[in-house]
Amino acid sequence: MVSLFWDHYGAAGRLLDGVRGGGTPYELWSGGKGHWDHMAEVPELQARFNRAMTQFNNLSPVEAVFAAYPALTSAPRLVDVGGGLGGFVRAALARSPGLRGALFDRPQVIKRAQAAWVEDPQNAALAGRLSFHGGSFFDAGAMPQAEGDGEIFVLREILHDWGDEDALSILREVRAAIGARARCRLVVLEACISNAMASTASARINADIHMLVQYGDAKERTEAQFEGLLAAAGFELRRVVPTKGLFFVLEAAPV
Ligand SMILES: C[S@@+](CC[C@H](N)C(=O)[O-])C[C@H]1O[C@@H](n2cnc3c(N)ncnc32)[C@H](O)[C@@H]1O
Repeated sequence: MVSLFWDHYGAAGRLLDGVRGGGTPYELWSGGKGHWDHMAEVPELQARFNRAMTQFNNLSPVEAVFAAYPALTSAPRLVDVGGGLGGFVRAALARSPGLRGALFDRPQVIKRAQAAWVEDPQNAALAGRLSFHGGSFFDAGAMPQAEGDGEIFVLREILHDWGDEDALSILREVRAAIGARARCRLVVLEACISNAMASTASARINADIHMLVQYGDAKERTEAQFEGLLAAAGFELRRVVPTKGLFFVLEAAPV
């Protein structure tokens, strides 16, 4: 896995300059380009990142998440916001024949996800149940809107990529997409720092520094920090459910 992050090591070399006030380490390393913009320009970087995310998330098996929070597969529809190549939503669809899914990510990622989906014969059985949507979660109304009550919007390893202001904008977009459907839920899958088990605590601190290197003001958050952001966006944090993997399931309801 680590070899896929070669560009991240280059950026980490600028960590000291960054914390001394020089800017975001990644941008110092890349010559001024933010990580997402840089990947949009360099397909190989994007491909490495997608593979790395897939491998990284294998550390937190989807089955552990579904076991901890069964509503994810019993909902009528999952909207995976920033869902990458779609591994998570695909696993949910394969598990639950009545489920429909929507995969939303940047257009270049969705293009790859669609190509990979068509190439894999195992997806034939799921045909027609997943829709693909390219766009930015910072653009008003760009993400798929709720189509009925009880649907679940998922943000898996998204919020930690952003500082509070941007994270709040993303959450507000999800809140707008849910609208008046009171039984819809937002499920945030992240590792809360304060909840981290001893064995994973150092990994989360590493991840926190990694976020700083890549995105400047991005960070790992505590449960209380998530709760505050959710409240500011019009959600109430209802439950925090641990899983047997890295993630906690933070269930939020629209208020
Ligand atoms: C850390 S990855 C997580 C991917 C996936 N949720 C997972 O758990 O494997 C962050 C994702 O956010 C997407 N992303 C970044 N900026 C975005 C934007 N402005 N709009 C939509 N998606 C974005 C990236 O393309 C990437 O797939």
